[in-house]
Parts: sequence; C-alpha cells; structure tokens
Amino acid sequence: MKKVILVGMFATGILFGCSSPKKSDAASMVERIPEVEKLLSQMTLEEKVGQMAQVTLDVITVGANAFVSDEPARLDMELVRKAIVEYHVGSILNTANNRARTPETWHTIISQLQDVAMNETRMGIPIIYGVDAIHGTTYTAGATFFPQQIGQAATWNRELVRRGGEITAYETRASSIPWNFSPVLDMGRDPRFPRMWETFGEDVYLASALGVELVKGYEGDDNDISDPTRVASCLKHFLGYGTPVSGKDRTPALIPEIELRERHLPPFEAAIKAGAHTIMINSGLINGVPVHASFELLTKLLKEELGFTGLVVTDWADIENLHNRDRVASTQKEAVKMAINAGIDMSMIPYNFDFCDYLVELVNEGEVSMARIDDAVRRVLNTKYKLGLFERPVTHYEDYPLFGSEEFEADAYRTAQESITLLKNEGNVLPLPKTARVLLAGPNANSMRTLNGGWTYSWQGEKVHEFADGYSTILDAVKAKVGERNVIFREGVRYVDGASYWVDEAYDIAGAVRAAAGVDYIILALGENSYTEKPGDLHDLILSDNQLELASALAKTGKPVVLVLNQGRPRLIRTIEPLMKGVINAYLPGNFGGLAVADVIFGDFNPGGKLPFTYPLYANSLVTYDHKPSEHQAKMAGMYDYESDFAIQYPFGFGLSYTTFEYSDLQLNATTLRPNGTVEVSVKVKNSGDREGMEVVQLYTSDLFASITPDVKRLRGFDKISLKPGEEKTVRFTLTPEDVSFINAENKRVTEPGDFDVMIGELTARFTYVK
Ligand code: BGC
Repeated sequence: MKKVILVGMFATGILFGCSSPKKSDAASMVERIPEVEKLLSQMTLEEKVGQMAQVTLDVITVGANAFVSDEPARLDMELVRKAIVEYHVGSILNTANNRARTPETWHTIISQLQDVAMNETRMGIPIIYGVDAIHGTTYTAGATFFPQQIGQAATWNRELVRRGGEITAYETRASSIPWNFSPVLDMGRDPRFPRMWETFGEDVYLASALGVELVKGYEGDDNDISDPTRVASCLKHFLGYGTPVSGKDRTPALIPEIELRERHLPPFEAAIKAGAHTIMINSGLINGVPVHASFELLTKLLKEELGFTGLVVTDWADIENLHNRDRVASTQKEAVKMAINAGIDMSMIPYNFDFCDYLVELVNEGEVSMARIDDAVRRVLNTKYKLGLFERPVTHYEDYPLFGSEEFEADAYRTAQESITLLKNEGNVLPLPKTARVLLAGPNANSMRTLNGGWTYSWQGEKVHEFADGYSTILDAVKAKVGERNVIFREGVRYVDGASYWVDEAYDIAGAVRAAAGVDYIILALGENSYTEKPGDLHDLILSDNQLELASALAKTGKPVVLVLNQGRPRLIRTIEPLMKGVINAYLPGNFGGLAVADVIFGDFNPGGKLPFTYPLYANSLVTYDHKPSEHQAKMAGMYDYESDFAIQYPFGFGLSYTTFEYSDLQLNATTLRPNGTVEVSVKVKNSGDREGMEVVQLYTSDLFASITPDVKRLRGFDKISLKPGEEKTVRFTLTPEDVSFINAENKRVTEPGDFDVMIGELTARFTYVK
C-alpha cells in the first residue's frame, strides 16, 4: 500500500449531502473594522437588508421600464429615492439601455446617486456601483479594449495580463465605477459553451496563474483598493459554471466532487489567496442543486474551507430563478430564505424590491437569523470601506488623464499581437510579401464587432460599430500593408445582425471566386459574430455551412488561401483545413485585432501565441489535453476500424513562429523529491532560425501510477521568453510536492509516492517522490 501525504489547505468533506442550513463559523473570520461596526450597531433591519440589495440602472432612470430607459439616459430622482431612501438599496449595476456612456455621463449619474445615498439617508452610506469591465471598460465610450480573456490566455504572458487589468481598473475608475465583475475563472473546457471565450481556457494551471495576475492588475499588489486607480475584482462564477451537460448556458451540470476540486476550484482558490475582494455565484445547477441554494458550496466550501471573507453576490436574478426556473423554492420568499441561508450576501435582484420586503419578513419570522444578516452586511460595508467610498464616493474623470491614451492603447495592441496564434504555415506561405495583390473575403474581414465579441460597448457587442469606427478592421489593416489598390474585398458571406447571429444571408460565393482571378493570395476571415450567455447557445459546433462552402470554393481557385479565424470558441474546420495553406487563430482580439492580424500576415510581427485549449477535430470528440490514458486507444492494425484514438485538430499549447526553437539539456538537480523539498528543472532553448521570436516554454509532468488513474500529462509551469537569432537561454522551474498533487477518491488533495516524468518540448526526465 502506498502511503499518502496530505497537502494544501483542504480539509475536505462531502459537498453534496443534504443541504439544510447548519451552524457556520464563517462569520467569525470576517474582519471587524471599527467604523463599519459602529454603523452596523446603529442600523435598522430594513437598512441592513437594503445594503444586501442591488438593482439595475434601468430601474431608476427616466422612462424606466425593465430593459429600457429614455435617451439620453438620466436618473429619475423619484425612482432613485424610492430605491435608495425608501428601500435603502446599497448597490446599482449595469448601464442604461445596454449602451456605453461617456466618462462625463458616468460621473453625473454616480455623483447624483451618491449625493442621495450620503445626504438623504439616515446612515449616509455610499452605494457601490458595479459593471462587467471584462476586456476593458465595457460600458465606457473611448475606453481601451484588450483581447477577450481567451485571447489573453493565448499570450501566455503574465505581465501583459496584469497590465490589462491595471489599465481596465484605471479606466473603470475614470468612469467613476469602483467594482468590476471580472475575472472569469470558470474553466473553458467545453467549446460548445457560449462563454468559453470569457475564460482563460481549459487548463487549471494556466487559468490559475493568469487569474491571479488579473486580480492583482485590478486590485494592486497589496490589494489596497482605496487607491482610486484600482477596483474591487469579482471572481466569477463560483463554482463549476462552464461545463453543463448540454453545453448550453445555465443548464444542468453533473460534476462529482473529485472533479470539482481537481479542475474547477483551484483558480478560485488561487485568486482568493491573491486577495480578491468579491465573488459572484454560478447561475446554473450542479448535480441538481442550484448553486445559489447550496450551503455546502457557498458557506462550507467558499467561506469556511477557503476562508473567503469578502462579499458574495448573486448573478442576475438568480434568487428569483430558484423559484421561477429551478423550482427548488415554492415561493419567491422561500427562494430568498434559501439563498441567504446558503451564504449569499447581496442579491443582484435586479428589477424590483420584493427581495427587501421578503427578507425583512423572514428575519422577523425567525427564518433567517440576525447573525446571518449582520455577517452579510458587514461584508458589503467592509468592501465599501476598503474601496474608500466613504471618503471618496465618486472619482472624477478629469483626474484620469491616461484614459484611452496612446500609452494604454499600445499595451492593448501588444496584447492583441501576442495573442495571435499561427496554427498552420504550409510551405512557409506566411508571411505574405507586401507587394502581393490579395482578395480579402469572409464575414469577419470588415467587422469591428466580430473582433471584439460580447461585453463591448453593450452586452452582446452589437453596438460596436457605433463606438469603434476609428479602429482598423482586418480589411483596413491589410490595405495599409499592401496599398488600397492591391486589395479586393468580397465578403462572400455576411452575418445577419441581431440575435440570430449565426445565420448568414445574401452571400455571393461566385462573386468572391471571380474576384480571386487577379490576385496572388486570398485572406479569408471566418468565424462567429458577437454573442454572450444564452444568445450564444449553439446546436452545432461545426462552422456554418456557407462559410465552409466559401472556403472550399476559394480553395478550388488554386490561389493560396490563408484562413483567419475570428471566433470565441473553436468552431470545427476539419473539412476545409487541409485546403488552407495558412491558418491563424485571432480569437476575439479587441479593437487592435485588425492591426495585429495584418502584422502577423505580413511579417511585421512574429507570432508567438499558443492555444489555451485543445482545438477539436470532431464534434463527438471534445476531449481536453489533460485526459486519462484510455482516451488513447488507436485502431488495431488490419482489424476493426474504430474511432477511439485521441483525434484533434491542434493540441493545447500549440502555436507556430516564423523562426524555430531547439530545446536541449533538460536537467533536474535531483532525482528524488521529498516532502517540503523541491526539484529544480532547467532546459536550454535556442532560436535556431533567422529572426527574433518569442517562445512559451511549457513544463508538463506525468504521474506514472496513482490511486486515481492519472491524467496523461498536466501543465505545471510556463515561461515566455524572447530570443534573437542564434541566441540561447536557460529556463528554470521549481517543482514542489504540491505541484504534482491531485484529488484522490476521498476528495482529498494528496501527493503519492512514485515516479513522475517531466516533459519540456520533446525532452523527458524522471524523478521519484518519496516520503
Ligand atoms: C452574467 C454575469 C454578469 C451579470 C451582470 C449576468 O447575466 O452571467 O457574468 O456579471 O450578468 O451583468
């Protein structure tokens, strides 16, 4: 029998037992700030409950009617007073009419809200305003837009991700907003899921590492969010969002505890350790239990085990959903009781005030304890206090001269360049000469909307053209490289605007084929239109028929075709990929994506992006790289022709460069690893080509035998380096027992004695873990 070593902070129990609320000591861990305690001691029940309520801006604007307000959007002071004075509402979110606003407008709106909250209420507590600034400040005109998280992950560049967070925090505060519903730490392990592009991809280590960078970017190294250039981050969506059985948003997931702890929990745990102040809950259900009703997940796991002492907010209308959608509560009031007793501190209601009335009643009836209310309100007020809102309830755009500056845009541009991932370059067709005549085709060739994706100037990104006209589409950028008269543009296939974004119409494939006659190369930009959440649900992962048709028809012309993929998830391209000479994945690169794509195509930037997910080949084979050995069951020669091998389009971590890299001399300083010990790993990497390039050095380990079937390999470290032609660098990593630990059958994190392979590039070395 192997002896087992327990590592990490997990003292795990069974998460999915019965879910009636029990006593919890989570509240005792929360910091007691004297100023906050003083307020708490003076507040009425109604005032406390109001602090736990959040409504959307469209509820308090002129013309307020659920999703719509009059334009220009302005506050209806009577409705504002109803929310803040009568119901004591402590938080507002979102924008009016789902539309970006100028920093000036934001300043006006939030100043007016704070004025009422601080001068017309008994306690004078400022509101906390929150938005989704997920790849730049979504709802502010003129803000700097970065690649979406999936593209940021493809950079494998910790500094760039942190810098993006810093800039977004600055510009969000320049918009007078102190709270950001980001980062997304859900795992992008299912390409069918419409929010995969909001994640850092499929790997636990990469998502954890970059999640920490984003939190530090938003909150600063010391998490001092009273600094008016920083915001409170909000980790989301705790826990297990992103891998529902059907692949569709907010549908049931079946995730055993072992898997939840192995693949979903670590990024949240790392970000909590990094000091993140708030967290948002998964809108879906796991194993039949809506997460918003789960005492085990919210209180036992999050607050007690992980020791999270910050603010827990619901997702959109998710307390109502416990009754309306998920039917675990027979009334709305019952839903409020369930969620608050499970551990929710603030309800993103967001359209009415019933939550407040129900919660007051529930406390008076003894169904929710005053201790639970005090704990929730303490977490809310602590966050406001730490943000410095009591002293500085609103920041002023004039104090933010770098908002939308060239300096910030240069970082966004650089991030877009480093995200671009070269997946195929047959016969070194790329880079193309700048003397070439090119046909540019496809629905993504001339669209700022598709470059940005959702959460850009609006929820679904459909208003991008109103705000981003000054930036370059791929078409604009290609013209700038080769000259206007050397570019023929034929969309060939066009997106229909609106909700049914995947439907193409009015396409003229024959016209595109005719236009190819006089050109040297074809650049074909395909992919998806913008979407997020339910509107992005998909019945079929294969790229739309007419895009495939366009690709095949253009390939038949015999002209070399370079395919540029501009998409939020890997749409299947199996039938056309062999016909393409070059393939570039641009993901959702943001406002500088057009320039970045053209830089790569014409060789002004040497690509170094690497896939943060496994690019699937078949819709029935959506297997991640960190799978079990039994996924590799190749056909038996000359016997049955079964399709059981690990068949993929491109592997996780893959991406080409215009130069070549050679790995050599993989060394371990010891062949034995002991508890509390380390193994130092080094490898030499040389640029063996003739131009400067960036390489992501990736360290994987394989546990050869374990009590739970081990994954074939797992990423345990990475480092991005830049090398001049002929230059060689030694890259070093340190491995600890925790790095090679896993969750065992008792749902405990362990490192088991035995042999481990270390793999970097094609090189392998071995060490043994002994107790
Ligand atoms: C999304 C969240 C978002 C919230 C507020 C929800 O629909 O699931 O990610 O933070 O809306 O906009």
